[in-house]
Amino acid sequence: MGKLDGRVALITGGGRGMGRAHAVAMAREGADVVICDIDFQVDGIPYPMNSPDDLAETAALVRATGQQCVARVADVREFDELEDVANAAVAELGRLDILVANAGTFAAGSIVDLEVRQWATVVDTVLTGVFNAVKAVAPHLMAQRSGRIIATASGMGRHGTAQMSAYTAAKWGVIGLAKSAAKELGPYGITVNVLNPGMVDTPIIRNDHLRRLWNPELEDPTDADVDRKVLELGLHHMPISVLPPEDVAAAAVFLASDDARYISGGTLEVGAGYAANYT
Ligand SMILES: NC(=O)c1ccc[n+]([C@@H]2O[C@H](COP(=O)([O-])OP(=O)(O)OC[C@H]3O[C@@H](n4cnc5c(N)ncnc54)[C@H](O)[C@@H]3O)[C@@H](O)[C@H]2O)c1
Repeated sequence: MGKLDGRVALITGGGRGMGRAHAVAMAREGADVVICDIDFQVDGIPYPMNSPDDLAETAALVRATGQQCVARVADVREFDELEDVANAAVAELGRLDILVANAGTFAAGSIVDLEVRQWATVVDTVLTGVFNAVKAVAPHLMAQRSGRIIATASGMGRHGTAQMSAYTAAKWGVIGLAKSAAKELGPYGITVNVLNPGMVDTPIIRNDHLRRLWNPELEDPTDADVDRKVLELGLHHMPISVLPPEDVAAAAVFLASDDARYISGGTLEVGAGYAANYT
């Protein structure tokens, strides 16, 4: 018997990375899964976004567990698109129980150098995208008087981060949004919590832009140079540079399960000691 038998989970940014890990982990615990992601390159974002092949691969991995998967293209910056995805979940899979508001992106640069449109894109995706997802899914959960909402913020949403003001501000905002949602939705039997990952092995860090950003002194930096930098900067305090996404997914399964039925309004840190860097 799985921890999520009979449930339906909707995961934004489910095409790859942690979204894919959440989808597969929840399916293995018996949930049917709805994934959505974009299929185009967002203006001002300096690394590749999800591709249609990524979304199809996640859907195939979910189906390989024996669970159903509905995959949709949707931009979390557009409320109407997420409302359509939530309605499709209920229409095609019969119900909706879990939201993992996972989609996110970043653009780096000092406050002086970051373009206003880049700031707006990051805040619209990271913060407004979570608002849109909660707003689209909450009515379904309220109607059945139960549900789980998990929003992905970041360790970088718990301390100031030079060159990452938009990302840090938006992730900090996600925590405030989730705590507010926990108050509004708690009376309906719905829990709302935040996952704060440390550095995780996904495409958001495995790209040339991030490699060069973190290693400006190197002519041709590699992923290993990023891994070394994570340890040098003292982000993690256990001997691991970047975490497998499956470890974050295990925390999401826990928050979605009956084991966590009275855990709400909180943050769960999955960062090999990253949380020791902030209060
Ligand atoms: N990897 C890390 O080290 C790390 C650490 C802390 C937090 N996070 C957060 O974890 C979440 C998952 O990221 P990841 O590490 O799997 O990276 P990722 O880039 O592989 O996944 C993010 C997904 O979000 C999607 N996305 C971006 N903009 C979107 C939009 N407007 N609408 C819909 N989908 C959109 C991307 O296409 C991608 O599939 C993000 O919120 C990220 O900020 C990542």
